[in-house]
Amino acid sequence: MYLTREEERILKGEEGPARQLAMKLLVRIGEALGAERLIRISHAHVSGVSYSNIGDPGLEFIEGLASGGRVAVYSTFNPAGAPLGMDPPYPVPREHVEKQARIVKALLRMGFEPSGTCIPYALRRPRPGEHLAWGESSAVAVANTLYGARTNREGGPVALAAALVGRTYLWGLHLEENRRPTITVRVETLPRGEVEAGLLGYMIGKLFSGELPYLDAGRLTKRQVIAMCAAAAASGSTAMCVVRHVSPEDQGPPGGVERAALGPNDLREAREEVESASLDEAELFFTGCPHHPEHVVNRVLELMEAHGVSRLRRPVWIAVPGRASRPLATLAGELARRNIRILPGTCLVVSTLGRSGLKAIATDSVKSAFYLPRRHGVRVALASLEDFVKAYGA
Ligand code: F3S
Repeated sequence: MYLTREEERILKGEEGPARQLAMKLLVRIGEALGAERLIRISHAHVSGVSYSNIGDPGLEFIEGLASGGRVAVYSTFNPAGAPLGMDPPYPVPREHVEKQARIVKALLRMGFEPSGTCIPYALRRPRPGEHLAWGESSAVAVANTLYGARTNREGGPVALAAALVGRTYLWGLHLEENRRPTITVRVETLPRGEVEAGLLGYMIGKLFSGELPYLDAGRLTKRQVIAMCAAAAASGSTAMCVVRHVSPEDQGPPGGVERAALGPNDLREAREEVESASLDEAELFFTGCPHHPEHVVNRVLELMEAHGVSRLRRPVWIAVPGRASRPLATLAGELARRNIRILPGTCLVVSTLGRSGLKAIATDSVKSAFYLPRRHGVRVALASLEDFVKAYGA
């Protein structure tokens, strides 16, 4: 692989052992993939920072890097295994809390933004064509599909290495020729909300993994595209779609590629595969997979007001980025009276939710519906927040 003089210097260890290790990793993987050279990135996003996922080996690896390593570019990290700065509404062992805090502290020492979110695009909006090294599969699909930025689905250590040297290998979706649609998918029943968009994404990931779909699905909202991308990246290896009227790289339906269609039966099949409980059985509603920006709380309150609901008989949990801002933290008391809990900087999938004793929950996230039964043995109903407010409003 061709390396610049500066890259050679880093590889020789002239910028310290952490950057040397990072450069070695990127060069070794890049060479194995046949990449010609490295490219500069403008934003690294690291996944795999939950203590329940990476355990002591991961903690020690990150602390080791943090003893001398500093990020070279704007860098963010994924949700942690427990809420940041707020008590969790489910049991988290003390050891887990302490070790998770050490992981976050080490990342901050390296210069990471205080992020703890899977929507890094909400903290720094990617520009079309710019190169990123992101490790969260839903965020990767959103960056490529919605923003036209360029990133592969990086593993946690690779994204961390990229953060330390500000580069990644020129390969995969960084290359123009790999970003052209390989199949056209016409969606016969246009998705009406986030749940349906997620079901559509689930089928795209399941049926067209390995392809780059051109999607003709009407005018999807931004949140629908995010829900679809998250589900497609969970059920398959989808890292990018081109969505008609939405993606910056949309040049109209491509010629000379295979054609497929997804209809109501496909969405029904997706629901049957991921839904394992009914709304009646749900002990709470979870939303925020991917995370919601904080202002979603206002939407929830508006929704309750619109339905004349002052308090919910069963709780709503909302996952939002990082540490809750001061305005949101001051709202916590009022939200608690309405039976709403904010979960800043965490993700139920990589949490210790399995210790909660919960049997069934409702969610608007198909990605959560896919993972929560597998990870925590919790059954899941798919519903919109509005359906839940109507069913459990008091
Ligand atoms: Fe985010 Fe966790 Fe869902 S990282 S996309 S909340 S599975």
